[in-house]
Amino acid sequence: MAWGKIEKQEIQSRVFAALRKNKNYRTTTVLGLPASYLDAEVFPPDADFLKDAPFAKAFMENPNHIGCHTLVGGESAFEGTHALERELLEICAVDMFGASSHAYDGYVASGGTEANIQALWTNRNYFMEEYGLEAQHIAVLYSADSHYSFYKGSNLLQIQAIEVPVEETTRQMTHATYDRALQEAQSRGVRAIIAIFNMGTTMFGSVDAIDEYIPILKRSGMPYKVHVDGAFGGFVYPFVDTDLRLTFKNQEVGSITIDAHKMLQAPYGTGIFLCRKGMINYTHTGAASYVVGGDATLVGSRSGANLIAAWMILQTYGHDGWKQKVLQLIARTDMLCAALRELGIAFYRNEGMNLVTMHASQIPESLIEKYVLVPDAHDDSARWVKIVVMDHVKNEHIDAFIADLKAHLTTAAYQDQTY
Ligand SMILES: Cc1ncc(COP(=O)(O)O)c(C=O)c1O
Repeated sequence: MAWGKIEKQEIQSRVFAALRKNKNYRTTTVLGLPASYLDAEVFPPDADFLKDAPFAKAFMENPNHIGCHTLVGGESAFEGTHALERELLEICAVDMFGASSHAYDGYVASGGTEANIQALWTNRNYFMEEYGLEAQHIAVLYSADSHYSFYKGSNLLQIQAIEVPVEETTRQMTHATYDRALQEAQSRGVRAIIAIFNMGTTMFGSVDAIDEYIPILKRSGMPYKVHVDGAFGGFVYPFVDTDLRLTFKNQEVGSITIDAHKMLQAPYGTGIFLCRKGMINYTHTGAASYVVGGDATLVGSRSGANLIAAWMILQTYGHDGWKQKVLQLIARTDMLCAALRELGIAFYRNEGMNLVTMHASQIPESLIEKYVLVPDAHDDSARWVKIVVMDHVKNEHIDAFIADLKAHLTTAAYQDQTY
């Protein structure tokens, strides 16, 4: 395991060294870039705290990471921080998701939505180029619990979106529904499939049992590509469960989304897209002729600071330290589940995840509001409410919620007896 812990001092000096390797707008003459440091009136560059604050310093220096730097070198003015982005991607692709070194491409996207759309775009173009298909003959196939970014992406890319229902209790698609969805798609003229499997759905934290569906995809006779959405679960599930089927260790998996701005607690704007080497070429455009090496990403200009935050977090913990942190969250989630069971509250939870989704009918509105629980719908149709055990959700918060819930149930039972 190459991904070890690095001491704070070294992390600071590594980031400062990377920033020094970038062209500095203050100390060198940079005439051609439509870019600069952050406005000095608002963000004074000589603020004292900056000397010990590498992320804030990077934010102020404002490096642009436009382009895909696993593919080509990119703009030399920012080569120092581009190298840190490559290190971040190497940790995620190789140490977390089992790719061989340099056998992948990727970039730090604005979030999970962009990374998912990048996956659809890459695979759609692959089917169009390699199979001569038109967009409408390509479909993205996903469970009903999948994130709405797949709807967004399919709408933008004009490919078909096929939502497969899930079972109420397991949150899994069944063989029959998956098979039927494929057959119906074929009869409507679909000729290729982008299959989505989740490593932690938004509302349930459910993890799709990929091996159940691959044989059905194969049987359909259509060419397919597999994308894994680990936007929510990518920094949790692989540290709890030894299941490698949703990683690059599984040859079926072509691309993965993970989000550093969710469980990793990096700033918003830090999604990560990873795919097997070569696939991102299908979105590469030389039309971005002013960008060194062209561009293959959806976004265009993007911050070089956010990924430094993610790199710093991963290097601060190292693999083992991060696993410890995740296991603490899992232990807290276990505690919550045990208490809910005792109270007779029905819920769904994947044991490898830190998310608990309860039947909304059993949780009073007052507690949903008090504890800012998130429902599956913001109207009368809500059937589920979730608790996500993040870093700030401590044992005492869970205890307080459980105590309130118990008091509510006791009062309700007493009223039932009285009337
Ligand atoms: C599973 C999953 N995928 C994708 C996304 C989209 O991520 P973002 O909000 O960063 O665009 C989310 C967000 O909650 C998610 O839970």
